[in-house]
Amino acid sequence: MRLHWAIAILIISLLCVGLLMGYLPNGGSLKSAVYNWHKTLGLLVLVLSLFRLYWRLTHKLPAQVGGVKAWEEKLAGAVHWFFYGFMIVMPFVGWGISSTSRYPSRLFNAIPLPRLPILSSVENRKEVHHFFEETHEILAYIAIALIVLHVVAAIKHQLGGKAVLARMIPAMKKDDS
Ligand code: HEM
Ligand code: HEM
Repeated sequence: MRLHWAIAILIISLLCVGLLMGYLPNGGSLKSAVYNWHKTLGLLVLVLSLFRLYWRLTHKLPAQVGGVKAWEEKLAGAVHWFFYGFMIVMPFVGWGISSTSRYPSRLFNAIPLPRLPILSSVENRKEVHHFFEETHEILAYIAIALIVLHVVAAIKHQLGGKAVLARMIPAMKKDDS
């Protein structure tokens, strides 16, 4: 649960900052600081998500909430697995953008971020850079759509009397029981 909320807050912030940071004025230290922090927190998502995936695969799930339709459960399962994939692939794609950029990247706005070894001497740097940029953007829009669906579904079920949201927010559980 803690990992779910920490990662969710980080991802929602990164999506907002990512979509806005391109509009910051060029050349200033603010823009490079925001980009560097975007990269740092994006890589933190990667580390937390690898741990979360390990946790998910090595622990038993709590029993399903009753009364949820079979197709809703299937769709929720598919969206959840997309999220697990996204939480790991998205940071690597971002790292791919940085690894093929002319600009240096700094973790915590201080420590040089190494390039991904597989991309350190890529021939057609510009094309590969563009490919990663496009993929990062498309994945972001797909994720935004699915996060909206995920949140609407959680609220809808909660309001419909199925304690789905309360499973993720222990404080709500007390009220329910
Ligand atoms: C889950 C983690 C991440 C999320 C949700 C995320 C989200 C975003 C979004 C929404 C954009 C704007 C896309 C656009 O409009 O073109 C963006 C841009 C960018 N991201 Fe990320 N990002 C993540 C991780 C990373 C990581 C780990 C790095 C690098 C190490 C990174 C590097 C970049 C760069 C360099 C840009 C600017 C691309 C451009 O100028 O077109 N991102 N990110
Ligand atoms: C970027 C944002 C988010 C991501 C990536 C995300 C990801 C996930 C994933 C992967 C699961 C499945 C856990 C599992 O069964 O393995 C899950 C469950 C859940 N999420 Fe999110 N989530 C996000 C945001 C939110 C938000 C904002 C809410 C609040 C409405 C929420 C509510 C829930 C609930 C209630 C469940 C439990 C469903 C159940 O018990 O089967 N999530 N989330």
